[in-house]
Amino acid sequence: MKALVYQGPGQKALEERPKPTIAAPTDAIVKVTKTTICGTDLHILKGDVATCAPGRILGHEGVGVVEAAGTGVATFKPGDRVLISCITACGRCDYCRKGMYSHCTTGGWILGNSIDGTQAEFVRIPYADTSLYRVPDGADEEALVMLSDILPTGFECGVLNGKVQPGSTLAIVGAGPIGLAALLTAQFYSPSDIIMIDLDDNRLEVSKRFGATATVNSSDGKAAEQVMRLTGGRGVDTAIEAVGIPATFNLCEDLVAAGGTIANIGVHGVKVDLHLERLWSHNVTITTRLVDTVSTPMLLKTVQSKRIDPTQLITHHFQLDQIIEAYDTFGKAASTKALKLIIET
Ligand SMILES: NC(=O)c1ccc[n+]([C@@H]2O[C@H](COP(=O)([O-])OP(=O)(O)OC[C@H]3O[C@@H](n4cnc5c(N)ncnc54)[C@H](O)[C@@H]3O)[C@@H](O)[C@H]2O)c1
Ligand SMILES: [Zn+2]
Ligand SMILES: [Zn+2]
Repeated sequence: MKALVYQGPGQKALEERPKPTIAAPTDAIVKVTKTTICGTDLHILKGDVATCAPGRILGHEGVGVVEAAGTGVATFKPGDRVLISCITACGRCDYCRKGMYSHCTTGGWILGNSIDGTQAEFVRIPYADTSLYRVPDGADEEALVMLSDILPTGFECGVLNGKVQPGSTLAIVGAGPIGLAALLTAQFYSPSDIIMIDLDDNRLEVSKRFGATATVNSSDGKAAEQVMRLTGGRGVDTAIEAVGIPATFNLCEDLVAAGGTIANIGVHGVKVDLHLERLWSHNVTITTRLVDTVSTPMLLKTVQSKRIDPTQLITHHFQLDQIIEAYDTFGKAASTKALKLIIET
């Protein structure tokens, strides 16, 4: 089968690989029909993710059809259409029993990281019963690809942790796919103000179409002043960090109102200063989270009932043969205006 393989920092190739086989009774083999590329795949290619070794097939998102199921798989059989979660969950360990699948002692984020992933014709999914979701009849499968990672990430790490409330004020720093997923799902709770902050005017335009009430281009370094003006000098009840660099976390510290919450989503590679000399008296909460994907069944229903339309995030389509071109397009988002790509196998 064809597969996109990480070959070490800065290097990747479309290679011919053996089709995966069932290794444990709880495994399923899924024929991938649609997959996509995540910003985290670009982090891996930069050499930022130590757990991902050269030779690994990348990808942790996608939908497909069950090709084979181990004898211990009770819920799925060959021919079933499934959504693949970016998080693998055994369903039995202490963390899984708490709903913290991201920290599953034998799972978590392993797909396309410490085991081979979804940017291939076939993928082996461990703990298939608790790591796959059935695709409802008539579902738009491209919309469901957005449920493997970005929608639960924006919702769980940003909106739920950030305690977005009816009538509350919200700023989201970073209008990439994750920030936009937070923007879409924040609207379940009817906040009064949603201010999107980014350096990229195209992404800010997209944010307006997605429901932002105001946008701020922070390239002049004056985003905090603008947000203070927009909020009557108070700041925002929730500041969601969806970039993953010190400058944007520090901006969230400047934006958060007294009593508010900073909900960090970004993957940080370097240390960040925490300004407790100012924040100690502000009654703020700071949260961090690796996506658990516990909200996937709920989000699936909201997509099915058209409460949210994640296909708005899809800007490009490619075939698996063209995946190198797809990476180039995704990597140059400022000029290509790429958000999420669909790669068909
Ligand atoms: N916590 C989790 O479980 C989890 C899961 C998935 C992704 N992530 C992380 O979420 C973050 C966002 O992911 P994404 O795919 O949307 O990334 P992305 O790179 O596509 O988007 C980031 C956005 O931030 C903007 N930006 C960059 N520097 C900025 C600055 N100084 N001020 C304002 N905006 C700035 C960029 O223009 C871009 O639009 C990444 O760090 C990713 O690794 C976390
Ligand atoms: Zn991802
Ligand atoms: Zn577990």
